[in-house]
Amino acid sequence: MIGSTSKIKPTKKHSIRSAYTAVVGYAQCTRIGSAAMSDDKVLFEITEKHLNTGLRRFPVGRVRTSRVDPAQGVSYVGYPIADLATLDPEAAIFLLYNKHLPNPDELNDFKADLANRASVDPSVINVLKSLPKDGHPMEWLINGLSLLGMTGKTGDFYEDGLNLVSRSAELIANIFRIRSGWGEPIPSDPSKGLVENFVHMMGVPGADQAKLTKLLRTFYVLHMDHGGGNLSTFTGKAVASGHADQFSSLAAAMAGLYGPLHGRANQECLNFVKSVKTTDPDEIEQFVRDTLSGGGKIFGFGHAVLRAEDPRATVQYALGQEICGDDPLFKTALAMRERAVKVLKENPKISNPYPNVDAVSGTLLNASGLTESDYYTLLFGFARIAGITAQIVDERVHMRNGRGVPIYRCSYIAENQDPRRLG
Ligand code: MLT
Repeated sequence: MIGSTSKIKPTKKHSIRSAYTAVVGYAQCTRIGSAAMSDDKVLFEITEKHLNTGLRRFPVGRVRTSRVDPAQGVSYVGYPIADLATLDPEAAIFLLYNKHLPNPDELNDFKADLANRASVDPSVINVLKSLPKDGHPMEWLINGLSLLGMTGKTGDFYEDGLNLVSRSAELIANIFRIRSGWGEPIPSDPSKGLVENFVHMMGVPGADQAKLTKLLRTFYVLHMDHGGGNLSTFTGKAVASGHADQFSSLAAAMAGLYGPLHGRANQECLNFVKSVKTTDPDEIEQFVRDTLSGGGKIFGFGHAVLRAEDPRATVQYALGQEICGDDPLFKTALAMRERAVKVLKENPKISNPYPNVDAVSGTLLNASGLTESDYYTLLFGFARIAGITAQIVDERVHMRNGRGVPIYRCSYIAENQDPRRLG
């Protein structure tokens, strides 16, 4: 995730002022999305110092699925994430697509609809069997999404969005199974429910299915969406704006999520927690101090937007107490929550010393039987497919009174390009 490691802000004066101006700009437009806002209201002032900052805090559009508040964290269509964490994942998907929670009948119908969409062409699984085992699971996913598109797209953003949500369960379960050498694919049983069937198809050797299902249901809901501007979501929407289909757009989005500064940070976090090698809070505090003074990073702390503990982390710490409270790595992660924050807070240049979504997720997955951290970003991707496809449907089908957002085409200012001629 962007800003997933706590780091010191750039010291150049212009960078700090740039961040300040951006925050002020954003605060002045807190009613983005309110009907009262006029079309010509200034939302954000762009000056030279905002160039080459990765569009940090630039408002570029409207988003209907979720909102990221720096202090409160993410909410889905107005509901704080903590309220939704134990919902059926299908209810949360319905919420992102329809902008209201389903009643019991709507939920049953929606679950049946998703189950009916679940069939994956056997050729997809056959190609997976031929992929190089050295490829990262996210590289397999990027290929797999293209294969799903080649074998089953309709060209309709809504239909393909839900097909993708539904079919990604079998695709991703088989990436785990085939790449890990756990044996032949396990036949899909979509009537079990999306995540339940996913756990069934993975067939993780030695795992407690019930515990893993409980964790992954929550993990799925927590990771589905995070505003409109995170790298993978933005990338997916940008690609879809050129009218590429959902499958290709999501393959591009997942390439964004694969980056270690975005989704792949969750695999690094478990490796980091393992490297601490103690559960003693004082030793952990010393480890954090030594790591920082040696120029190292504290993985799982900090965020590009958040300025408080990520509520997705808060939910996972509580869940960890329930499902793996005695696990030594969980105890380490819990002590880090207190001691790393304490040490990071001592540095006024650190804008967010608090845990983010990745701080403890790997520890929980590891304790539930998914011990290979290379696969963790796949689980993030499985969930994020729901949010990105829903946002693509909004941008392509609903926004601007159904005309859709035009093809993304921002502008760059030429640098070091004085006119020249041949000869
Ligand atoms: C996410 O969930 O996408 C990450 O927290 C990164 C972000 O919001 O930029």
